[in-house]
Amino acid sequence: MLKCLWYFSALYLASDQVQQFDSYGKVRNMMIDDSFFWFRRNRLILPGVRGEHVLMHITDTHLNVCDALSTADEREKVKEQEALWDVYKEKFATGNGEPYGDAQRISTLAAFDRLLALAEELKPEVLLLSGDNLDYMHPAGERYLAKRLGAYDGKFICVPGNHEAEACAGAWDSGVRAYEFEGFRIVAVDNRNRTVTRPDLDALRTLCSDPVPIILLCHVPILTACCGEKLRSVNPYFVIDAETADENAREFISLCVSSDAIRAILCGHVHGYHAVEFAPGKPQIVGSQGMAGAVHLFTVAQPD
Ligand SMILES: [Fe+2]
Repeated sequence: MLKCLWYFSALYLASDQVQQFDSYGKVRNMMIDDSFFWFRRNRLILPGVRGEHVLMHITDTHLNVCDALSTADEREKVKEQEALWDVYKEKFATGNGEPYGDAQRISTLAAFDRLLALAEELKPEVLLLSGDNLDYMHPAGERYLAKRLGAYDGKFICVPGNHEAEACAGAWDSGVRAYEFEGFRIVAVDNRNRTVTRPDLDALRTLCSDPVPIILLCHVPILTACCGEKLRSVNPYFVIDAETADENAREFISLCVSSDAIRAILCGHVHGYHAVEFAPGKPQIVGSQGMAGAVHLFTVAQPD
């Protein structure tokens, strides 16, 4: 039985029409006996949803993997990438004021396995992986990811990050994908290149013409006038900014903001946790780096 450190960072309330943030300041600490993990926990109340649905959201695990089939060059590359992230994951964590210590100084492979084992213990309704699952497309990494996710005893939805390709067999497919839940949808969108293709944009627009609430899963957060200063102050590389984005990306942002269907965005890429609104009453939760133990638990529930 895991005893963990829970951060109750936000509570979203709802009227019949919209969701509203309450505050991010509510923090409750509990005992912890696995100091690798640290949690952010949010709750979204959505009219039309039936029951309560716990989603486990992880991101930026940046897996580097060797196996028996790896060549010498591939092994060397994995070693180099691991060494790089040993430095940078700590820089990201400390730069964002997030937990980091000996417990987080483990390989990306060990971290991923711990996260999947946690999911198998917590049994969320679905495990969401919002990109940079692999540090780069490499054969052993792809083999491992397909095998580990294939063995995962539960539903999962993956999107690619900017370190990855459009599709990865056994992990994610290309294109917009919609998954149905009781009264809401999770829609996976590939925005890893800080834009969205025209066919994907059209597919998303079609889904938005249906009134079923959508939780968007993608890699790169969007930056809108509504987002707080903290997200506005991150390096522009880490966001899709309407002021600098291409035409498709501007349309993507505009659709997210204006659509009555899109109610929340779950993403990553920043390697630091952020909880903001991208439009009034619409939360955008940027999960932090899974390779350093960050886990986001997102509960979607019906109004009382
Ligand atoms: Fe990343």
